[in-house]
Amino acid sequence: MKTLKAFFAATTLMLVSLQGFAAQSLPTITVFKSPTCGCCTGWVKHLEENRFKVKSFNVDDVTVYKKEADLPYGMGSCHTAFVGDYAVEGHVPAADIKRMLSEKPAIRGLTVPGMPMGSPGMDFGPQKDAYKTYSYTEDGQTQVFASH
Ligand code: CU
Ligand code: CU
Repeated sequence: MKTLKAFFAATTLMLVSLQGFAAQSLPTITVFKSPTCGCCTGWVKHLEENRFKVKSFNVDDVTVYKKEADLPYGMGSCHTAFVGDYAVEGHVPAADIKRMLSEKPAIRGLTVPGMPMGSPGMDFGPQKDAYKTYSYTEDGQTQVFASH
């Protein structure tokens, strides 16, 4: 009985510290979007639901940030975001961002080009299209990071 109690106490402690670690280890994502973009707001909500802290800025010209993100030609979407040393373009699922942050690949960032129906923030209708998250490097090399 004594050992069981000790076990539970230890488990509870471990869970609490794990939760604390998980909350701490998710960095803030800074999002740049146009003020009229509804799906961008949907994506921000998706991030927050997945425990990210988000700082969202409405900007007149999003192309400035796509340049800053070294986004390859034709790989753009609506909003551009930054997290740690990485850039995140478009409706990238939070799970992909978390994976990038834990695996720390040598890439510039992730992008979901265009605005595929069914992706986070674009999930307001019955239509669910297959889409891919791509990683890209500073010199414009792209690779499939995840298929959805
Ligand atoms: Cu969008
Ligand atoms: Cu957007």
